[in-house]
Order: sequence, then C-alpha cells, then structure tokens
Amino acid sequence: MARNQVFNAVLVARQIHNLALIGFMGTGKSSVGRLVADSLHFTFLDTDRVIEARAGKTIREIFEQQGEAAFRELERGIVAELAHRKKTVISTGGGLPVDEANLASLKTHALVVCLWASPEKIFERVHNHSHRPLLNEPEPLEKIRSLLAERGPYYRRADVLMNTDFRALREVAGQVIHQFRLAQAVQR
Ligand code: S3P
Repeated sequence: MARNQVFNAVLVARQIHNLALIGFMGTGKSSVGRLVADSLHFTFLDTDRVIEARAGKTIREIFEQQGEAAFRELERGIVAELAHRKKTVISTGGGLPVDEANLASLKTHALVVCLWASPEKIFERVHNHSHRPLLNEPEPLEKIRSLLAERGPYYRRADVLMNTDFRALREVAGQVIHQFRLAQAVQR
C-alpha cells in the first residue's frame, strides 16, 4: 500500500474531531491555538489553564506544594476527559506527551500538531517569564537543551511537526489550519 494510502487509512480510523497542539514551552501553542480556534470557530482549551482553574492554584504553586508527579496526574485526568470533545483546539503543557498514553489518547480524536523551536529561540521567548517551574534554574538555556533532547522522540510522534523559529504566529496558525483541513478532507 502506498504511504499516503496508509496515512489516509489511519486517519479514517481515527475520526479527527479536534486539533491538539503539543510542543516545548515557548513554542507558541497557546497563542497559535487561540488564533486557530477563532478561525475555525472551535472552542479553545488550554490544559494548563483547566488544571489551574480546578486546583485554584497556579502551575507554579502546584509544583511547589504538591510536586511534579501530582501535576502530571492532573494532566492525565484532563487528557482522558478530552476524548468526548468535538470542535476543540487543545493546547497542551510541554511535558504532557512524554506520557505515551496521553499522546495515544489525543490521537484517537485529534490531529496532533507539534510546534517546534530551537533551544535558543525558546530561551529568547521564555527568559523574561517566571511562571514555568521547570525553567527556574540557574542555567535555563542548558535546561532547555537537555529537556528538549529528552523530549524530542515524544514530540516527533505528532502527526505534523512544524518549525516556528522563523515564522510569525499568524503564519504558523495558517499552516496548522491548512494541515487540519487536509486531514479532515481525507476523512470524507
Ligand atoms: C511544562 C510546561 C508548561 C506547564 C508546566 C510544565 C513542561 O506548559 O505545563 O510548567 O513540562 O514542559 P507550557 O508548555 O504551556 O509552558
């Protein structure tokens, strides 16, 4: 079977109702996700914001008071609930696809697009922010490099991988929409 036929067969079996954005911190998942949701007239959902609203705490407070493992458990719970959604653009926390079950679950109902950026670009985008507990480190660029290397294999399991280094948010959003329409057209 030709490669595109295999791809089509897989997508048909999956039923793409939603679009999920995965990728490292600072790759623009939330900003791009909002633009895409507006354009498609979909609901926008950010897993981090849902977690914060339910816990009544910031991500930083959850990490400090309950630890990362508790945060990951909350993440897993949200991912499981998403399977019932339709017409939703889901922006995910950067570590979420490291749990393979999370990615597998997203793929049952969503086209999964990974936004990619180089460590230097990520550093440029996040270095003025202090709300990301994993980057509150003496050497954040080094931490970005090592985490990105560790997570690369998980991110590369997305359906579509998109480099954002030299693209404006609107252009990235346009490309994401294009990929989503292609995937939906294959389903019809
Ligand atoms: C994390 C990324 C953050 C947030 C938490 C952990 C990670 O989300 O979920 O701080 O492990 O990479 P963003 O990718 O939206 O910054």
